[in-house]
Amino acid sequence: MKEKVNFNESQTFVNLSKSFASECMEGAKYQFIASQCENQNLDFLKTTFKSLAKHEMAHAKVFWDLIHQNYEGDIIENVDMSFGYPLECDDFVQSIECHSVSEGKLSDNIYPAFAKTAKEEGYPEIEHKFKLIATVENCHRMLLEQIHNKLKTKKLYKSEIKQKWKCSKCGFEHTAKEPPAPCPLCEYDKGYYEIKFDMGE
Ligand SMILES: [Fe+2]
Ligand SMILES: [Fe+2]
Repeated sequence: MKEKVNFNESQTFVNLSKSFASECMEGAKYQFIASQCENQNLDFLKTTFKSLAKHEMAHAKVFWDLIHQNYEGDIIENVDMSFGYPLECDDFVQSIECHSVSEGKLSDNIYPAFAKTAKEEGYPEIEHKFKLIATVENCHRMLLEQIHNKLKTKKLYKSEIKQKWKCSKCGFEHTAKEPPAPCPLCEYDKGYYEIKFDMGE
């Protein structure tokens, strides 16, 4: 059996640092998209992006805690962690597609590779966390793909067949190909109506 690598000198420490930084930036970018949704009266979508931002900050906290649980010594002064990081465009619809691609890279390539390194360096608990977070990033990818498709085809609030639409503000339900605009009960904008996503459950 291979010897456990000293954490302070391990690649896993660097990978956790990169992942922490990347998750913080993802969290910020989803907040920016949430603001763009707000500007377009897409309240339900705004809430969806706020929840994505919350997930990313929770991932950042997991990585932060793992660093501090394993690092020997009190002060980490500086970490050299140069890495390529995607800066998606600022176009509302296109940026969502770019984010779905970035999420796919995290779930399929980057975090599985970091998990493998953690295992090789003797950190199975860190390997496990990388694998778990990869599953969440895969859900993010699926969600973003669907949001992007609906926006691109202008079918965010249009369905081929009649479906039930529910107002997230007042709970009013309406069965049709489109939700009523504004809501007949609370008179809030169409953007408050819930959008259904297929997450493969
Ligand atoms: Fe994340
Ligand atoms: Fe994510």
